[in-house]
Amino acid sequence: MMVSEHKLDAAAKAILKTNDKGRYTIPTSGLYPYQWNWDSAFAAMGFAQYDVDRAWTELETLFLGQWQNGMVPHILFHTVDAGYFPGPDVWGGTGPIPSSGISQPPVAATMARLVFDKDPVVGKQRFEPLFDKFVAWHQWFMDWRLDNGAVCITHPWEAGRDNAPDWDGAMANIDPSGVGEYTRRDTSHVDGAMRPTKDDYDRYIWIVQLGNRLKWNEAELLEQNPFRVADPTMTFILLRAQRDLRELGLLLGRDVSVIDTHIAILEAGVKTLWNDALGCYDSRDAKTGEWANSISNASFLCWYAGVDTPGMIETLEKILSSVEYGVPSFNPNDAKFDAKRYWRGPVWAIMNMLISKGMAEMGVPHGEQIREATQSLISEQGFAEYFDPTDGSPAGGGTFTWTAAIWLGWASPNAVHAASVGQQQSAS
Ligand code: SER
Repeated sequence: MMVSEHKLDAAAKAILKTNDKGRYTIPTSGLYPYQWNWDSAFAAMGFAQYDVDRAWTELETLFLGQWQNGMVPHILFHTVDAGYFPGPDVWGGTGPIPSSGISQPPVAATMARLVFDKDPVVGKQRFEPLFDKFVAWHQWFMDWRLDNGAVCITHPWEAGRDNAPDWDGAMANIDPSGVGEYTRRDTSHVDGAMRPTKDDYDRYIWIVQLGNRLKWNEAELLEQNPFRVADPTMTFILLRAQRDLRELGLLLGRDVSVIDTHIAILEAGVKTLWNDALGCYDSRDAKTGEWANSISNASFLCWYAGVDTPGMIETLEKILSSVEYGVPSFNPNDAKFDAKRYWRGPVWAIMNMLISKGMAEMGVPHGEQIREATQSLISEQGFAEYFDPTDGSPAGGGTFTWTAAIWLGWASPNAVHAASVGQQQSAS
């Protein structure tokens, strides 16, 4: 049975078109006018629903920014835009394209596999030249970001969850005096109550200035940066990405033994993020050893990484029953929960997709409930950057690329239909 195009499918494609700069996509104009790493990977997955060629171009452009040490930056400043701070001069990135000096959750291999599956013949041609670049990027995480096998972040922006309560302890250990005067631009685009506080921003900029001074030398940063937190976002996402890269490597006939070794290290690392007293995966300060005691949406990426853990589903059930829409970025029963402030409460379509996809793959209940909640949220409230999980009201930037991509590739009734046809075909 053919499902006719849902009226929002056209709206989602129009957003991708609006944000398309030709060979890369910006998350939304004004607030985020450059190419962001994980935003771009989700955009590729969205494009792949109707234009596989454009999807590959998105990933190819991202890797044009890869540094010599393998790192793929979290922002590529292709064309300077004064509406964003901190820009390329503040960062002082040392790669082939002006960039930031940190990376971002490596969802790209997983998204590349979804793009590949749309047309394996084209996929083989386009992924072959990218494979070694992906291996080098993942190797960079293994070289520079591990703490007992768990993946650390060296700046809150590296996790993508900028102001999550997970980092409060480590952020408090930074003295940002000396950061100097600067003008934030984000709050000229979006209500400040939906964004990180000035205390957070001072520390964000302080770490950027440190990295710039050290020319982003990872060995020196390891010694001098007080911020280093082992993070479930990075650990689960890299583990999953390594599994997908391995499968793609096998399809290309490549040696994947290094990836196998990495998978074993990361599987051991995941165990070090289990906070027994909390009954949940948690962030751990790699400098002090302290737990964040944070039940976040990143905690529930365990299934996405292929890790099923007794107790996690019960923890998730409590969270789901406390809000209306999907998985909030932070525990709604904790005093720090803030329904509209970025990663301290709001619900994000991208995280809902990753969590739900993992649950469906592992046969864990409630995955479909999360997808339905996301479908309602976007149908009722549009393509916002994130949403208040208690009443669904839109927050942050509007006409957002990744929300449109998630609609097209996962939340739309058409995406649900395409997935079930795909499953029937692979079963027959
Ligand atoms: N999310 C950050 C910002 O708000 C950068 O990645 O600018």
